[in-house]
Amino acid sequence: MIILGFESSCDETGVAVVHTQRGLLAHALHSQVAMHEDYGGVVPELASRDHVRRVLPLTREVLGEAGLTLDEVGAVAYTAGPGLAGALLVGASVARAIAWTRDLPAIPIHHLEGHLLSPLLADPRPDFPFIALLVSGGHTQLMRVDGVGQYTLLGETLDDAAGEAFDKTAKLLGLGYPGGPALARLAEQGDPDRIELPRPKLHSGDLDFSFSGLKTAVMTRQRQMQAATGEITEAQRADLAAATQAAIVDVLVAKSLRALKETGLRRLVVAGGVGANLRLRERLARGLRGLKAQAYFPPLALCTDNGAMIAFAAAMRVQAGLVDLTTADAGFTVRPRWPLSA
Ligand code: KG4
Ligand code: ZN
Repeated sequence: MIILGFESSCDETGVAVVHTQRGLLAHALHSQVAMHEDYGGVVPELASRDHVRRVLPLTREVLGEAGLTLDEVGAVAYTAGPGLAGALLVGASVARAIAWTRDLPAIPIHHLEGHLLSPLLADPRPDFPFIALLVSGGHTQLMRVDGVGQYTLLGETLDDAAGEAFDKTAKLLGLGYPGGPALARLAEQGDPDRIELPRPKLHSGDLDFSFSGLKTAVMTRQRQMQAATGEITEAQRADLAAATQAAIVDVLVAKSLRALKETGLRRLVVAGGVGANLRLRERLARGLRGLKAQAYFPPLALCTDNGAMIAFAAAMRVQAGLVDLTTADAGFTVRPRWPLSA
């Protein structure tokens, strides 16, 4: 079966077609980063309007690229939450409209399920069960995944998400939005050990995270440096970026290793935007070698939000027999807040 999938939960419009047996056929993405940059963050109303503008041209693009027409599509999938309500409604209403007019099933997908199954789009793909570290702008969670639809939450952030910690610190350092990639770039020129920053909850004995104190620590260090020398130098900014990245990565790695040890599992899947971070990948690889465990990542282009992971999660659910394939009615809802393991 060919599934057409839509992602519009935040600031990326993603559309993709996936074949339940043959995998990903085509995907297209429009990032709104440039539009939100001037505001230092996502403006929900602008995001929704831009999704409206982009979604149909992107749909034509992916169908064209895959050499398909809507006649060959067997089901339509969309991100039903969590995310920005207005943004979610765009993908949901387009998907539901296509499904209804063409008498197809419509499959609502949890955004985080999309992320956590996305490493299965790469080669080699992990077998179940595995531990998933979900690290995005809105979420930081450790999950035990026993199969499609079988998710147990092991730990999560009590306040800011890891991506949020990257973004907020980047803002403090005067870097653009989104801050994660910019902070990671600046960190390459800095020394991660010159400035000491806290590793929140590193030894808390559980699998939860807390990142909100980190930005305060960075702000304090920045003020101290400014007070001492008047102006903070480029080298000092790079050191602060490197120290921040190192602190976030240390905690993510330590808790992931702990989750593997506690469950006895030896496969770790890393998903979500922060999974693109190279230091995180390096440090995890090092830690996992000691445990004889293996890390799995989505293809780099599919680490951040995209339609491929949504269409693919729908395909996995269809194959697992978890989808009601009776055709859709026109009614639907989106869930801006939606726990995955409930
Ligand atoms: O999964 P995602 O695209 O969107 C959400 O669902 O949130 O993740 C976006 C987050 C942002 O916070 C961004 O700064 C972060 O992922 N990010 C990174 C990197 N690339 C993206 N953080 C650290 N290093 C990166 N290379
Ligand atoms: Zn995401």
